[in-house]
Amino acid sequence: MISAKDFIPSKYTHSVEKGNFQWSAPSNIALVKYWGKKDNQIPANPSVSFTLNNCKTITKLAFAKKDISPEVSGSLNVTGNNFSFDLLFEGQPKEDFKPKIQKFLERIEIYLPFLKDYHFTIDTENTFPHSSGIASSASGMAALAMNLMSLEKALNPEMTEEYFYQKASLLARLGSGSACRSVKGQVVVWGNHANITGSSDLFGVEFPNAIHANFKNFQDTILLVDKGEKQVSSTIGHDLMHNHPFAERRFAQAHENLDQLISIFESGNLDEFIKIVESEALTLHAMMMTSMPYFILMKPNTLEIINAIWKFRNETKIPVCFTLDAGANVHVLYPQNVAEKVLQFIKNELVGYCQNGQYICDEIGNGAVLI
Ligand code: PMV
Repeated sequence: MISAKDFIPSKYTHSVEKGNFQWSAPSNIALVKYWGKKDNQIPANPSVSFTLNNCKTITKLAFAKKDISPEVSGSLNVTGNNFSFDLLFEGQPKEDFKPKIQKFLERIEIYLPFLKDYHFTIDTENTFPHSSGIASSASGMAALAMNLMSLEKALNPEMTEEYFYQKASLLARLGSGSACRSVKGQVVVWGNHANITGSSDLFGVEFPNAIHANFKNFQDTILLVDKGEKQVSSTIGHDLMHNHPFAERRFAQAHENLDQLISIFESGNLDEFIKIVESEALTLHAMMMTSMPYFILMKPNTLEIINAIWKFRNETKIPVCFTLDAGANVHVLYPQNVAEKVLQFIKNELVGYCQNGQYICDEIGNGAVLI
């Protein structure tokens, strides 16, 4: 079995003075949810997600080796003991993002021992609207991890593609758990599962089994119900699963639901797919409602949308369903062949429940891309 130690490099064969890379990485939407974790961002249960296509972070990483020659000691760049980086968001310095990046670099330093040798300029932007209530941590951490892996690959060109993507996902995980599912593949599993070959707590892997054509170009229209700041950060949310009265049963249920999805992906049975996906979304929220302290993250319009989707599905038999993140926004999931009808329904009946009528059309995508 692969262990985290396998990702600690021994020595590099090449040296690189300066340069830059640019990667885009998408967001992802979990079908079986990750909620609850152990130390070092190890998930309490396995999860699976669709990778998105349009909601992305694009990050450029410029790097230059710090000058450690004695003549320039005294200059800011010589410390060698600290991470040295500038952070730009949409081209402008963004100080309030820095502590999160600092913490990320601290966590991954053991895996990338070159980090303190360079000064970095991280320039990042999202394709989705700022403060839309869509979390950018998954796409953001994945995009940064990809860039750092490109640099490591320049230092060690012999690296295999498998190692590159596994380690990129492992690093992304240490930034934000769900980010490890934003690296490669359309359907990504993260967390050990007895019946999924290659699945690991350390990194996300492409779902290895058959996937029915019904899921090809699967659509996700994200209805922005509440664009406000998250009421509960995911760090606090995951912590609420410690000593949660239903935690153990919930973690077991995630294994069972993932097991069921293996055959659903193969058969293309959308009725069964809908049952698992909606149940997972409501279970995630049920966990928050039954923790101490307790939270309700849905808004009245979240429930209006859910009821409207159920009514529409009953009347039309169109296989459309919803899922939720740890917030009030609703992801509407449906196959491509009903896209026209579902979009019409969204425009006619759901847009009124969205803040400023805003929604984002997305679909299943392939993962991070080097630009
Ligand atoms: O990656 P985090 O720590 O922000 O947690 C994300 C948790 C959920 O989005 C609610 C579920 C998931 O599996 O993505």
